[in-house]
Amino acid sequence: MNIKEIELRDLDAQTFIDQKVADIAGAVGDGIAINALSGGVDSSVVTMLGHKALGTRLKSYFIDTGLMRQDEPQQIVSWFGELGVTVEIIDAQKQFFNALKGLTDPEEKREAITQTFYKEVFGKLVKDSGSKYLLQGTNFTDIEETVAGVKRQHNILEQLGIDTKEQFGYTVLEPLVELRKPAIREIGRLTGLQKDIYERPPFPGPALAARVIGEVTPERVDLVRQATTIVEKELCTTDAFQYLAVLHEDKVTGMRDGKRDYGMQIEIRCWDSEDAKTGSPTRLPYETLEKLADVITSTVKGVVSVTYNITKKPPSTIEVV
Ligand code: XMP
Repeated sequence: MNIKEIELRDLDAQTFIDQKVADIAGAVGDGIAINALSGGVDSSVVTMLGHKALGTRLKSYFIDTGLMRQDEPQQIVSWFGELGVTVEIIDAQKQFFNALKGLTDPEEKREAITQTFYKEVFGKLVKDSGSKYLLQGTNFTDIEETVAGVKRQHNILEQLGIDTKEQFGYTVLEPLVELRKPAIREIGRLTGLQKDIYERPPFPGPALAARVIGEVTPERVDLVRQATTIVEKELCTTDAFQYLAVLHEDKVTGMRDGKRDYGMQIEIRCWDSEDAKTGSPTRLPYETLEKLADVITSTVKGVVSVTYNITKKPPSTIEVV
């Protein structure tokens, strides 16, 4: 890997911003660039850099994959509206669920999302907009894990030998590749992003599909979405790095009203971590865990079991897919 990390302690954030803004402006010239804003820290920071470099010549899209959290598209559009950045929502739910139909293998699911995202949805957007550049927030950890073969992060292309210009018809610009999350948050703060955005816990590119074991269907995503809302509401006051709900593939025997209820299992994960490279499960109070189990099993239809992950990364990883 020939990219060198810039650690937070060595980062001169303002110089970094000025340099990246100049690089983007230089690369795009008087053309236009597009970017996909997911509302995660990385894509939000990239949007701000692109906006500073190109103004309205940066077209930002929120791709509604059907895999996002509750009300996420509207929330992101509203946050960026406050910053003077216009974001257009593209409804691509059908395309993503079609591509994921019948797939259960994690890497195949990731590959299906990559192809749908970059080829189908973005290929068309790039063509329609006349843009030749896609700006994206790939970070140092994404590249490291993909190159090491841990997971194929859905946004990694060049490092896997994919020539985007040849395959998809556009060049990808990745201004954050030298940084990990803490440094990216600092850049976000200085670009004027709201604290609610730059301090958000990380959220993976494949979104809730990274948290559904087995086939990703609208119904199964909806179930994990409901559990996610509950987990995020309960754990947002912790100092944890990231917290999430996972839907398992296997069903288990439970009981309700004195009768057998063969139902679904939700796993909760909550991580202490600096940069997602390694992590330890947060020692949450037992009362919090019990409350989560009660709320999830009583409000998310079909769930009869809630578990908490107690395994460190490694050998676990933060997401399950
Ligand atoms: P893992 O699961 O590999 O996750 O321990 C490390 C960090 O990366 C996030 N993650 C992703 N982010 N695209 C992304 O942009 C992906 O495909 C992806 N997979 C995992 C994860 O949420 C964690 O913060």
